[in-house]
Amino acid sequence: MRKVTDNTVFTQYESAARGYCRRFNPVFTSASGGLIQDAEGKEYIDFLAACGALNYGHNDPDMSAALIEHISRNGMSACLDLHSDVKAGFLDSLQHIILEPRGLKYRIQFTGPTGTNAVEAAMKLARKVTGRTNIISFTNGFHGVSLGSLAATGNKYHRMGGVMLSGVTRVPYENYLGTGIDTAEYLDKILTDPSGGVEAPAAILLETVQGEGGLNTASAPWLQRIAAIAKKHGALLIVDDIQAGCGRTGTFFSFEQMGIKPDIVTLSKSISGYGLPMALVLIKPKYDLWEPAEHNGTFRGNSHAFVTARVMLEKFWKDDTFSQSIALKSSQVTKRLTRIRYLIAGSYLKGRGMMQGISVGTGELADRICRESFKRGMICETAGSYDEVIKIFAPLTASVDLLNRGLDILEKATKVVMAENRCASRAKEDGPAHKDKPVATQSPADTSKKNARQSQSPPTEYDSDAFKISKEYPDNFYGY
Ligand SMILES: Cc1ncc(COP(=O)(O)O)c(C=O)c1O
Repeated sequence: MRKVTDNTVFTQYESAARGYCRRFNPVFTSASGGLIQDAEGKEYIDFLAACGALNYGHNDPDMSAALIEHISRNGMSACLDLHSDVKAGFLDSLQHIILEPRGLKYRIQFTGPTGTNAVEAAMKLARKVTGRTNIISFTNGFHGVSLGSLAATGNKYHRMGGVMLSGVTRVPYENYLGTGIDTAEYLDKILTDPSGGVEAPAAILLETVQGEGGLNTASAPWLQRIAAIAKKHGALLIVDDIQAGCGRTGTFFSFEQMGIKPDIVTLSKSISGYGLPMALVLIKPKYDLWEPAEHNGTFRGNSHAFVTARVMLEKFWKDDTFSQSIALKSSQVTKRLTRIRYLIAGSYLKGRGMMQGISVGTGELADRICRESFKRGMICETAGSYDEVIKIFAPLTASVDLLNRGLDILEKATKVVMAENRCASRAKEDGPAHKDKPVATQSPADTSKKNARQSQSPPTEYDSDAFKISKEYPDNFYGY
């Protein structure tokens, strides 16, 4: 393979839809555990974890070995939803290692391989089961970008204009209106009142921790009341555990310690354990009313993912040792983030388990701290309505030492950016006579999803990628 060290091939040939690579633009070539390496040999601590698809780090050696063995013996690859030995292995492990010990009885449906496919199936099934159309979803919820799940996603940037998104009623998540307002009571009221103006719902769809929405957490009492409201109004409770599940909050499912048993659960991202695409829906048996192949798709179930997922379940979830280690690491993250937050006036901690972060107030500040961290060898992203939350998504398998190294970088980057801010405001106060003082360097904005949300101002010459696109592709460019 030729060595690629510059971005020309991507900026020339890849769609403008690309996002993360605009903020983090080296060419990455290898990865192991919690570290990734670029083509120049620079190493980065990975606190992005493919947005929760790499909870078990990169290239876990046991999963790699099992996958290599499977491929070398010409094991099944694509096989639609045919029976296979590797699918049997995964189903057995999920049943005996995860579901049974937790007293959960679910049928397992494999959908197309990304999270949004699972959400689409869950919403469709709830509608079929209840004969109703409406789905209740919450402010700041993120459920994917295909049309059904996009209707349930709050984020304006993804929803765009001009696309009909229907069949969903949005209500405020816990604490959306401040701690004094009981949003569960509001939901119950509008569903109970015949003039509340809301159609009886087929389902209530929620995340227990809103990952993309800014690490907003729901409490156990609130979740229990939402579950009771769903039951009272004849709706199914769907927990979208695509990001918060698979160990991210400390237990396999994010709802385990919340005292609820959802009717339907969606899983994807880290369910393969290895970053391979796979998504599934867990359905209480009485609601498994699908006709054969009624909701189908070529790639439902992924044989290679079955192999690695089975190893992941057997390696990490046979007892609670791993869960305990996540709890320890989570408290270390809390401790370190608390120290960092004191560097930024008005900032505060968000999230739970190994999905924690700091709300720093503005997307611009969060972006600068992320970029500074990246320069210093740690990759992490931002979340929230304005991308104002710095989101720390370390692999659950990261050592405490690696966690500390990554958080040292975040702390240093925060100090540097805050010092730049202080210099900039001093320079402003002192006026033009002090032009020679260092001022904050404005990081080049781009038009990625992230920065489009942070700033409504039109692109300038410094909008690196946006500028290139408009230069390279004239208005009459229609592609190849
Ligand atoms: C909670 C949740 N649901 C659904 C999705 C959509 O998953 P995918 O991007 O794989 O379609 C995401 C993606 O971030 C998510 O966080």
